[in-house]
Amino acid sequence: MRKKFLSVLTILMISLLAAYAQPGRKVESFNTNWKFYLGDEGDAKNLAYNDGEWRQLTLPHDWSIEGKFDEKNPTGQAGGGLPAGIGWYRKTFTIPQTAQGKNVFIDFDGVYCNSEVWINGHSLGKRPNGYISFQYDLTPYLNYGAQKNIIAVKVDNSAQPNSRWYTGSGIYRNVWLTTTSKSYIPQWGTFVTAKVNTANAIVSMQTQVVVNQKGLHLKASVLTPSGQLVNSITTALEGNDSLTTVNQNIVVGQPKLWSVNNPYLYKVVFQVLAGKQVIDKYVTPIGIRSFNFDADKGFSLNGERMKIKGVCMHHDLGALGAAINARAMERQLEILKAMGCNAIRTSHNPPAPEYLDLCDRMGFIVMDEAFDMWAKKKNKQDYYQYFPAWHKRDLEDQVKRDRNHPSVMMWSIGNEIREQFDSTGITLTRELVKIVKDLDTTRPVTTALSEADGKKNFLYKSGALDLLGFNYHPETYADFPKNYPGEKFIAAETISGYATRGYYDTPTDSTRHWPTSSKAKFTQGNSQFAVPAYDNVAAYWGSTHEETWKLIKKYDYLSGEFVWSGFDFIGEPVPYPWPARSSYYGIIDLAGFPKDVYYMYQSEWTDKPVLHLLPHWNWEAGKTVDVWAYYNNADEVELFLNGRSLGTRSKQGEELHIVWKVPFEPGVLKAVSRKDGKVVLTEEKHTAGKPAKIELVADRKLIKSDGKDLSFITVRVLDAAGNIVPDADNLVNFTIKGKGILAGVDNGAQASMESFKEPQRKAFHGLCLAIVQASKSAGLLTVTAQSEGLLPATVVIRVK
Ligand code: GAL
Repeated sequence: MRKKFLSVLTILMISLLAAYAQPGRKVESFNTNWKFYLGDEGDAKNLAYNDGEWRQLTLPHDWSIEGKFDEKNPTGQAGGGLPAGIGWYRKTFTIPQTAQGKNVFIDFDGVYCNSEVWINGHSLGKRPNGYISFQYDLTPYLNYGAQKNIIAVKVDNSAQPNSRWYTGSGIYRNVWLTTTSKSYIPQWGTFVTAKVNTANAIVSMQTQVVVNQKGLHLKASVLTPSGQLVNSITTALEGNDSLTTVNQNIVVGQPKLWSVNNPYLYKVVFQVLAGKQVIDKYVTPIGIRSFNFDADKGFSLNGERMKIKGVCMHHDLGALGAAINARAMERQLEILKAMGCNAIRTSHNPPAPEYLDLCDRMGFIVMDEAFDMWAKKKNKQDYYQYFPAWHKRDLEDQVKRDRNHPSVMMWSIGNEIREQFDSTGITLTRELVKIVKDLDTTRPVTTALSEADGKKNFLYKSGALDLLGFNYHPETYADFPKNYPGEKFIAAETISGYATRGYYDTPTDSTRHWPTSSKAKFTQGNSQFAVPAYDNVAAYWGSTHEETWKLIKKYDYLSGEFVWSGFDFIGEPVPYPWPARSSYYGIIDLAGFPKDVYYMYQSEWTDKPVLHLLPHWNWEAGKTVDVWAYYNNADEVELFLNGRSLGTRSKQGEELHIVWKVPFEPGVLKAVSRKDGKVVLTEEKHTAGKPAKIELVADRKLIKSDGKDLSFITVRVLDAAGNIVPDADNLVNFTIKGKGILAGVDNGAQASMESFKEPQRKAFHGLCLAIVQASKSAGLLTVTAQSEGLLPATVVIRVK
């Protein structure tokens, strides 16, 4: 027995050693042990510079989110009013002797913005675009063995304003160190597409290989998610010391198709082989699917017609700022998925690579957008100044990076580009479309047009767009087929309704535009910098959610829409002046708490039974309150106040909600939805008493001990009977003990000047949020929330 065990161990060790000695690819996270200095420090690029006093941190990092809100910060109110400036990062590291004779690359997924990178004092290059991923080759400058290497990165976000929304500042996405053999597949070197027939799919692969020795082969294997081999192909590699492109095809019989409900992912494993020895290995996840945009029938996926029910998303993660975190992105997408959302527009820039991985895995259709401006600026210091020199490289890199993602189904070359209005738009559109098409002809190219008159729109006049994306102007939808014969349509951006979670005023009989026009002054607001959460207030260029969704539903030729916006985001706090500092557009607030209109979408975009009542039930006696209900899967809804029926209603015609006008009296408001006389759902609103206690609800009580994973803990302020107190604004203090840290706090208030990083937050309409992050070792993480005069609460998270 013991002998057998030992021999198994020996085999294991030999194979482990072989794997280690094998000159394959190694990709390591390069996020830890960075030093950071806020300010300019030109000498820091030099090897000899002493960074001993600098702060130590782990990437991704956004220094803006750590700062104080101030109207005078040059990012301006539209940028969120947080500080920007210049920051330096340095990292000291060693490279093992065994890496001699290999290539070593550093990959930055995104740095905002204007970065310059040095290795051991040599400048590797600059990259102005803050959203693009880029790689540098470190090989020629490295020291091996015990001798140290130093990477220095200058991040210059000082030229302001450079954005219409919050950008964050710093190395806010992941950094990787990749070691390869001299023969290898370069960055983004694979392009995999699939043609689907009834019985099989032909997977076509175009692979770049740098070949540095004779007699190599490229083997491509398609595997199922569990790693079972479906099919493979091996091709001899020609050339020596050169870059070659290899085309290979593989048949996948009876393919499982990728769809939004069943996002099935195969993976293609590419191996560069010298005989049996693996010289390089590169894995590309793929999804086999077909889709089509039709001028009459709209969008279809795998032959089935469906509406694109999408939202526009900016990249910030609320209290975490721009610093990416896979769990925080996943949570956003989970909340959207539960609403029935099936599509994301990455407005208005390339997202983090992990975001697209999540969309692939969770089943979202993506409009992958490149630019918010071309050569004509929207802000004094924005990307327009780099556009002439950089747009080709940036757009090519985006397409190369993202073209294997099954979720990506549209390329957008721009949002509301100024060149719509003059003839330079024609040449530029054609050029940008060609840049995309030279790299990918399997997806339509679109752009988000705000000029709805085709005769005046030079981007449209270019004739180069496959899909016309229009922003707003719902009044023009009906005439699209007449005005744009034969064209395909997507409502690239819609709504721009505003709401503050938990704030209401009544009556709700009219739709309001705040302000009423581009010339009008905004006078309609209130001292709380709030917008009522009944879906009845919008920008003058926008509409209510219901108005536009009715039209999208109605016209088959509209492939679908992308609502502005899925979540509130930092910056662009229209319509309010300072201290408003984050947006009012979200269906979901900045903390991730749904506003009421979330349930309108859920009732329309999903089949799951919905009954949602608004507003809360704490008013002055006698006041007439408009009570709305969103519902589905039922014939009628009956409303009761303290047991008395206030009548039964059902949606008439195109209606998407029902209303009762109810003179307030304290107690219990109850709605009952029924189908064929049977109760489907009930929903109650209770008049709450004074705040008495805290309740903590963690979205997950078991998280990974990887130093990254998060638990989002909702704080609810309750009265003695356990009812949520709708106007509670108690200050809540957090104490964190054990295996983790507090990563951020929020409450969704758009005009709050409180820090996202302090261990305290005021409740806002009864709720606030604490985000805790796991440590790298296992154990318990205890979060306690206390507030003066309230019973405290504790939640224990297992970190494993
Ligand atoms: C659109 C623009 C978005 C956002 C929105 C606000 O015109 O594309 O980025 O600014 O308006 O309503």
